[in-house]
Amino acid sequence: MDGKFIVMEGLDGSGKTTQLRLLEEHLSGKGLIVDVTAEPTVSTLGGMIRDALSGYIRRTDCEIAALFAADRVQHNVNPVWGIEKLLSQGRTVLCDRYYYSSMAYQGTLTDWDWVAGMNLNSPQIRKPDLCIFLDVDYERSMARMNSGNRTYLEIYENPEMLIATRKSYYRAFEQLKDRDNIVIIDAARSIEEVAAAVAKAADTLFL
Ligand code: TYD
Repeated sequence: MDGKFIVMEGLDGSGKTTQLRLLEEHLSGKGLIVDVTAEPTVSTLGGMIRDALSGYIRRTDCEIAALFAADRVQHNVNPVWGIEKLLSQGRTVLCDRYYYSSMAYQGTLTDWDWVAGMNLNSPQIRKPDLCIFLDVDYERSMARMNSGNRTYLEIYENPEMLIATRKSYYRAFEQLKDRDNIVIIDAARSIEEVAAAVAKAADTLFL
């Protein structure tokens, strides 16, 4: 039987990385074999995206949107580390960001329907079994980013973009509410409280 595919979404600084690690521990503790993966991926395309996001290489928003979609296809189909491969082995796959990020970030920067269509209609971009959205407002997002030991801000890490992105996450969830399994979690609480809510949402897949 195929394993389950769970996606974690949220603004930068929403605590995704910490919560993914805690969810991995929780699910491993139940005896599941869990893999954690992320987008942009480790592929060549992922490297091109990182160069664009850091501002090292200038690319248009449309180029970035198309690169993310191509990287996501690679993430699904790669014969060694691809999502399809791992799921077919019965493993549980946890993914840091997925097409909801493309809708939220590139959807508003380019054309919403183009980005949504490219991702949702692709035969090689699988629909997750669950999307968990860690919801924080932009103030908390900025504060958490600035308290980290980061030496540069990525092109999207400014208040205007964070406010717009949170709004378009909600637009995506509204559009997908009858199609995808989406759970929104208030992530302005303690790490333990958020972790408990995340675990509860994930547990519904393993009843
Ligand atoms: P990264 O530093 O790798 O991860 P994070 O900030 O989540 O720890 O940066 C990922 C950046 O990529 C983040 O700013 C959101 C952006 N992004 C998109 O704009 N579109 C997408 O489809 C994805 C997957 C990410």
